[in-house]
Amino acid sequence: MKISIGSDHAGFELRKKLIDKIASLGHEAVDRGPFASSSVDYPDFAALVAEDVVNGTAERGVLVCGTGIGMSMAANKVRGIRAALVYDTETAKLSRQHNDANIMCVGARTPSAAIAPQLLETWLATEFEEGRHRRRIHKIDSLAASMEGWEGMPNVHVVKHPLIQHKLCLLRQKETETRHFRDLVSEIAKLMAYEVTRDVPLSEVDIETPICSTKGKVMAGKHFGIVAILRAGLAMAESMLEIMPGARMGHIGLYRDPQTLTPVQYYSKLPKDTAERSVILVDPMLATGGTIVKAIDVLKEAGAKGVKVVSIVSAPVGIKKVLEAHPDVEIFVAAVDERLNDHGYIVPGLGDAGDRLYGTK
Ligand code: URA
Repeated sequence: MKISIGSDHAGFELRKKLIDKIASLGHEAVDRGPFASSSVDYPDFAALVAEDVVNGTAERGVLVCGTGIGMSMAANKVRGIRAALVYDTETAKLSRQHNDANIMCVGARTPSAAIAPQLLETWLATEFEEGRHRRRIHKIDSLAASMEGWEGMPNVHVVKHPLIQHKLCLLRQKETETRHFRDLVSEIAKLMAYEVTRDVPLSEVDIETPICSTKGKVMAGKHFGIVAILRAGLAMAESMLEIMPGARMGHIGLYRDPQTLTPVQYYSKLPKDTAERSVILVDPMLATGGTIVKAIDVLKEAGAKGVKVVSIVSAPVGIKKVLEAHPDVEIFVAAVDERLNDHGYIVPGLGDAGDRLYGTK
């Protein structure tokens, strides 16, 4: 397992001992410093380690400062982090068994410093017990979500409609079979299309009903370009096209290099008039954000404006990355999950969307 580790000046020496311990246990330490013993600010190093854990660079983290308290306070500000201050064997075990702590904090100027390597060994070896503790972890996560308020960000829309949430719950379950999975993705895509098109301008037209003349409303101007990121975006895009038959469909082929997790483009075919259409870019998973950023680059090169990204499940780090690269886009998701694992999969997520859609695993 990869363990990201950082400290402040007070934890400098103990961090070195813990790095040796990590190696002796057969794990790999990702050392985030500091690399000199002069005075530093612990939140800077808490942030580095916390980022590693939420973006999947490391599975777990270790933070050392004078008491471990400042580090745990700082790390716990990062969504998806559960940093526990560990000071004896019981807290090392229970912070894993009950709290699924993903960062262990320890105080170099406390009595527990002497036993910190043993505490680390126990902490790394102890598994989460699941069951009722999972429910409690979810409650911590939803506290973080409500306080952070993705919905407060004008261009991030978490679509919480009960129908979508119900279908998402089925989608996540590993027992859900390919056929049912595909149907659910299509249904969720249609429901999300409803949200995405909420603010489309309408124009009035004269029509004849069987009874009399009247006025009706139709969507104004050129309609949409629905662009699927291959291959997982295909099912969503085709489903949206069924309810928006005036739309034109585009395809962008990108795959994630399994080693670097960076996107590699292998195909692009967009509507000729992409620049005149509102573009809805679909991919069921917004994970690292790298693929979606690259797809938006491709769309903007083709003149697209007002891009709306529609994903079903997202990770905070991915949303951040997309908005940093393209602050003008709007993002619609059904869920903002906890974090990425070290393979770049969303946790808890739903697994590999492409494989589950097409039964390729
Ligand atoms: N792509 C997937 O299919 N699933 C993830 O969790 C992340 C990326």
